[in-house]
Amino acid sequence: MSGLVCVTGSKGSPGATTLAVALATSVPPDAGRVLLVDADPDGGDIAALLGGGSNPGLVTLAAATRHRFALDEVERHVQPVGDNVALLAAPPGPDQAASTLVNLGPGFAESLAQTRAVADLGRWRPDSPAADLVRAATATVLVVHPTVAGVAHARSVFADLSSRCRRVVVAPRGERPYGPDEVAAAVGAESVVIVPVDRAAVSVLAGGRWARRAPLGRTARALGDQLGLTASTETPTEESAEVAV
Ligand SMILES: Nc1ncnc2c1ncn2[C@@H]1O[C@H](COP(=O)(O)OP(=O)(O)O)[C@@H](O)[C@H]1O
Ligand SMILES: [Mg+2]
Repeated sequence: MSGLVCVTGSKGSPGATTLAVALATSVPPDAGRVLLVDADPDGGDIAALLGGGSNPGLVTLAAATRHRFALDEVERHVQPVGDNVALLAAPPGPDQAASTLVNLGPGFAESLAQTRAVADLGRWRPDSPAADLVRAATATVLVVHPTVAGVAHARSVFADLSSRCRRVVVAPRGERPYGPDEVAAAVGAESVVIVPVDRAAVSVLAGGRWARRAPLGRTARALGDQLGLTASTETPTEESAEVAV
């Protein structure tokens, strides 16, 4: 199976970038390649986090595909960041990041859905320039800080995302002060997936190394399994083998 998994957050709930990086890097190399897309309209930071620059990336891809989006072009604009992870980096400035996403358009989102991809959408808002990605995604993961403010903001975001994406997974970061059942009830979700508070894993990821065996890495792997991210792809056709990412 292939597909696009989006990760986003709401006001007062940081953790989207960390979870997106953990999800992508938890895909075992033998499952195949995964594209990590920095699609934060407020400006990308994954390249800097993993020790790289923002080019090549979304800006060079948008320039190369300004007339018509072509999936096979993606390959020329990624940066290898691990055994099987390829990063599509975003510019750090919000104006350029947002306009680049708008220029890439729905063709980009639909193409990503044909690959194995994890996209960091930053903080969600109804007019997000990353909305096409949510529409094309297999699932969107909403990171929630399990506090009064975090849960209050997350409720409307969950409802909005649920009207656009076929599957929305609520992911509280930790279990305090509110536990999983309380968060699910307050947000309006049937269930939630707890993302562990794991500072050690965060610093490992920030150093450009992988945290597959840390609690965060293990949770990301289980979530990736649940969302079809780690399943190996069907026998590729000649055409899709060329463009597979
Ligand atoms: N699972 C986690 N466990 C512990 N700390 C975390 C976790 N996720 C994020 N953080 C902390 O929150 C900060 C912001 O996280 P980040 O993923 O960059 O948020 P966002 O992309 O939503 O702005 C990180 O630098 C880290 O210190
Ligand atoms: Mg971020």
